[in-house]
Amino acid sequence: MSNKKLQVTLVFLSPNGTTKTLAKMVGESLNDFNVRYIDLGDAEIQDDKLQDIIGTTDILGVGTPVYHLTMLHPIRKFLDNLAEVDGSHYGFSFVTYGHVSTGKAISQVCKALHNKGYGILGALKTTAPHFYESLDGYPADDDYDLVEEFVNIIQARLENNISWDDMNKLLNFQPLKTKIMYHFAQVFARFRVPSIKYDADLCNQCKRCEKVCPVHIIDADNLPEKGDGCFHCYNCVRFCPTGAMHTDLSKLEKLVNLNKRIVSENPVRAVI
Ligand SMILES: Cc1cc2nc3c(=O)[nH]c(=O)nc-3n(C[C@H](O)[C@H](O)[C@H](O)COP(=O)(O)O)c2cc1C
Ligand code: SF4
Ligand code: SF4
Repeated sequence: MSNKKLQVTLVFLSPNGTTKTLAKMVGESLNDFNVRYIDLGDAEIQDDKLQDIIGTTDILGVGTPVYHLTMLHPIRKFLDNLAEVDGSHYGFSFVTYGHVSTGKAISQVCKALHNKGYGILGALKTTAPHFYESLDGYPADDDYDLVEEFVNIIQARLENNISWDDMNKLLNFQPLKTKIMYHFAQVFARFRVPSIKYDADLCNQCKRCEKVCPVHIIDADNLPEKGDGCFHCYNCVRFCPTGAMHTDLSKLEKLVNLNKRIVSENPVRAVI
């Protein structure tokens, strides 16, 4: 198969920006392809337009941060709504995670693409800072090397396809401990994630929280009510200039540190 002029679309969601950075790194390394980017957090993107774009895509790359050992729910919805394709379409996944574990995110994205008819070219994972940490040092030099390795593998697998059975074996890399933890993580997430509080006296109605919410569920005129689908990215807290939107981050840091001690995935970065 000739790599020339193939259309690659990189679809991602990235509340804190690190998955978006990774998408750009992958896209900029795919020199022999036409590359376009779709940020699902972009309020402008309409479902029908999205489907039109995907309809003219040869290779679909799907990027998600890992939250509670899984992909973000808008990514799942995007994958669920994807139209089925014939065998001439390919897909891959790229994920960022906060040094705990990628859990099931990579295999879930790849399996969803496979179920829609995409031939799976591989996956890429790298660790990235949490939103309360500095982004200095990300991406690391190792990340650039990893992306280069990934792009080489994609190109090789376009020439010599890897079977789904073989790919599925590669995707099944998590230790049993992580597979068991996955189910607990889904339940714990509901109870242990610090809640977001709102102090109307401090709110100046700047509407910044509305703009930075990746799932657009905030109407600043109706706070503290929010629409359904908050996945606790804390963008509304981080970007609130007055502290009207606030939370106790120490709880979150403790939770993350505990999780790091329990699972802590190795190798940290990998091409699959
Ligand atoms: C609510 C929440 C849950 C998270 N869960 C995990 C997790 O299960 N494993 C992990 O390694 N990192 C976890 N992280 C860290 C993110 O995966 C990491 O910061 C990622 O790089 C964020 O991507 P972004 O910059 O594109 O938003 C979590 C972060 C948040 C806010
Ligand atoms: S409401 Fe706040 S924490 Fe929830 S998804 Fe939107 S920005 Fe993130
Ligand atoms: S960002 Fe903060 S101050 Fe601005 S509207 Fe939202 S809650 Fe109010």
